Amino acid sequence: MKLTILGGGGFRVPLVYGALLADHAEGRVSAVTLYDTDADRLTAVARVLAEQAEGIPDAPAVLATTDLDEALRGADFVFSAIRVGGLAGRAADERVALDEGVLGQETVGAGGIAYGLRTVPVAVGLARRIARLAPHAWVINFTNPAGLVTEAMSHHLGDRVIGICDSPVGLGRRIARVLGADPDLARIDYVGLNHLGWVRGLYVGGRDELPRLLADPGLLGSFEEGRLFGADWLRSLGSVPNEYLHYYYFNREAVRAYQEAAQTRGAFLREQQEGFYGRMKDPATPALATWDRTRAEREATYMSENREVAGAGEREESDLDSGGYEQVAVALMRAVARNEQTSLILNVRNGSTLAVLDADAVIEVPCLVDANGAHPVSVDPLPYHATGLVTSVKAVERAVLAAAASGSREDAVRAFALHPLVDSVSVARRLVDGYAHAHPGLAHLRRGTPAAPS
Ligand code: G6P
Ligand code: MN
Repeated sequence: MKLTILGGGGFRVPLVYGALLADHAEGRVSAVTLYDTDADRLTAVARVLAEQAEGIPDAPAVLATTDLDEALRGADFVFSAIRVGGLAGRAADERVALDEGVLGQETVGAGGIAYGLRTVPVAVGLARRIARLAPHAWVINFTNPAGLVTEAMSHHLGDRVIGICDSPVGLGRRIARVLGADPDLARIDYVGLNHLGWVRGLYVGGRDELPRLLADPGLLGSFEEGRLFGADWLRSLGSVPNEYLHYYYFNREAVRAYQEAAQTRGAFLREQQEGFYGRMKDPATPALATWDRTRAEREATYMSENREVAGAGEREESDLDSGGYEQVAVALMRAVARNEQTSLILNVRNGSTLAVLDADAVIEVPCLVDANGAHPVSVDPLPYHATGLVTSVKAVERAVLAAAASGSREDAVRAFALHPLVDSVSVARRLVDGYAHAHPGLAHLRRGTPAAPS
């Protein structure tokens, strides 16, 4: 099996390779092609992978290239994890929104809309190329905003593109752990959109253990989401939201904390990663150890302002053990390649799963995966409060897709203005101005500029 990683010079690629190294079974991935537009980043990551592979005789062979077509030819799986505009682009997405007094974050709210507007045309270009050069490949999309980008790619790849995220998996594992259940045996009732879902139940041997968690303040205080949202709010909700819902339920506090922070997350990571890739240019730098130190620092500071707002304290070691997206990606590839049925929370087309959304809307939901792909399981309807958020945000995503296709300012203003975390149409207009100014790729959205379809 050949796996091609788009964004192969990305910082998280060693996680994926590490998960592949642990797979020794027949039909495993034996060749990995890293594709990136930046040759220096490819060289840096290839050095880390080479150190990871030391002493492992069946380690997948690694090839790095900046030639997309070469990378795609013959691929059985394509893993897409690109960051359009790099971390500088992310920092600008965050900053423009915060300067307007609304949430500036990688994937949620105005920042996520800007990121989507920048990313969708590139992701669609890749999807078209994959459909042409590797029409039988399965595509695993980790490119954020993952739900929206998966939906855009599905217009060209149908159900052969599957979106993944580590946050629902991590949440499920943490809940199972505090309940004393085996995370691999527990069944999680979770549904929503990417970074916008709720755990409504956790079944062990057919019995729902979630009520036991919600009734126990001690247990609720013992894991990340419990501390982030607080026991009272979780009990009122009757479910455990994805950590990203902190931006909705505690929006005012999160925006203020982000405004007061010395740097946005994107700006912090930009500096951190410039340091890492810079050091990697020196052949004397120990690759794997340097990467691992940088990774640990990144993970320990994840959502630190939100935790501060909540008084949640430092992130605990056990909360860092997410069982990560790389495990999901490898489990997904195994299930498809070997027809080993497994259950995973994935981003796939809705079909008839959530009656309030149309069939083509990509949602995040537990799926049964086999050689024919990922099939969403049937779930209970969402309560009204969650349906409201899910349908609002899906309407925003559709406006982003329309704006990416038409290049029209009007569609872009609609995307920002309809978002529940953007509180005025005037603010939405100024956000479009701000992003058109900050990102050369969005300059066509300036006031008075004729639409320029991508
Ligand atoms: C989680 C999310 C990803 C997101 C990342 C941001 O892993 O599932 O979708 O990109 O967090 O983390 P960062 O360290 O880049 O702020
Ligand atoms: Mn994610």
